[in-house]
Amino acid sequence: MADFDATLQGKRILLIIAGGIAAYKSLDLIRRLKERGATVRVVMTKGATEFITPLAAGALAGGTVYTDLFDRESEQDVGHIRLAREADLIVVAPATADLMAKMAGGHADDLASAVLLATKLPVLVAPAMNPAMWAHPATQRNIATLLADGIRLAGPERGEMAESGEAGTGRMSEPLAIVAAVEALLSGDNGADASAKPLLGKHVLVTAGPTHEPIDPVRYIANRSSGKQGFAIAAAAAAAGARVTLVAGPVGMADPEGVSVRRVETARDMLAAVEIALPADIAIFAAAVADWRPAHEAVSKLKKDGSGIVPPLHVTENPDILATIAHRRDGRPGLVVGFAAETDDVLENATKKLSRKGADIIVANDVSPANNVMGGAANTVHLVTAEGIESWPQLPKDEVARRLVHWIAGRVPTKA
Ligand code: C5P
Repeated sequence: MADFDATLQGKRILLIIAGGIAAYKSLDLIRRLKERGATVRVVMTKGATEFITPLAAGALAGGTVYTDLFDRESEQDVGHIRLAREADLIVVAPATADLMAKMAGGHADDLASAVLLATKLPVLVAPAMNPAMWAHPATQRNIATLLADGIRLAGPERGEMAESGEAGTGRMSEPLAIVAAVEALLSGDNGADASAKPLLGKHVLVTAGPTHEPIDPVRYIANRSSGKQGFAIAAAAAAAGARVTLVAGPVGMADPEGVSVRRVETARDMLAAVEIALPADIAIFAAAVADWRPAHEAVSKLKKDGSGIVPPLHVTENPDILATIAHRRDGRPGLVVGFAAETDDVLENATKKLSRKGADIIVANDVSPANNVMGGAANTVHLVTAEGIESWPQLPKDEVARRLVHWIAGRVPTKA
């Protein structure tokens, strides 16, 4: 027998197969799990039985395949509550958009969804669907909900779809990649911890806070940014397992735990610190960088001389850090995220910024004074990508950060 990692030895996996063409890969997944010493119980949705037969799945798993919530025999045999409890881990592969929507909404109108609602076990989902369905705001909303509920994702991957030949993100991860995710989850201290580390092995660069642009040694141009959102993102990325570098403008906030912090004053210092911190897998530019700086910084404090003549303040444009990094040919981070703090036409301006600055994602928020975003504890954001716009309800900044980090983790391109 081949020499496998012992993590799966004696482990009980409940595999839920939903209805998609990728279901054929689940037969191989059963084999891979079993050869590593796991026992596999299988639940199939009605849709799944259109693609593969319960007989084939049952033959590979070596037991009954459960399909029906109201089947008298199987409910008397184990029942959905026992299915939901008698395992170490539940794997949903393939997870269709429909099944994930049901999970996010707490539906329980068939055996698979009832088991998923009744369980307290760690759950790993391996989505598989057409790229347009994956990119749809409804699916992305459901994914954010599932991640916030502690559910772990494996994939989906970029590639060609089996049925249409269309390229894009939505292909189910290969069985061995799912096995690796199962092993990672089971070998963690506990399922909840492991399920919260989707950025393990990634370097995430975050900018936060305002910049100060000196007029003279005691005066500067600044803005009302508190840095709270950016600091919360850095902390959430570190909690998600990433190595995090935070380049922070002048704010009075303590270094988040486990984050390497570089403190800077001006936009030019911030750009230099960002360049030094690269390469990164993900760059999140949350800083409210001053667009302009005084053209000349006076070496001594400007004096009011009583003549009534006010000194002119000439400004010049600062480098745009986001645009500079996003337009790099070499060493561009795999995913570049910008922010758009707007007071008018929020979504329109954010959409323009996406292409003008070359970002992959713009997180837009309305910073009109009535919303109290700058310095406040809550934020209402809209996620703008080339595929569309997803709007989230008003949430505490920590929660926006946590969800955003998980949402972004699901979009990091896999290295070729
Ligand atoms: O153009 P605007 O300042 O609204 O763009 C906001 C986005 O651009 C933010 O992600 C901000 O961090 C980034 N930015 C930058 N450098 C500048 C101005 C903005 O990185 N000089």
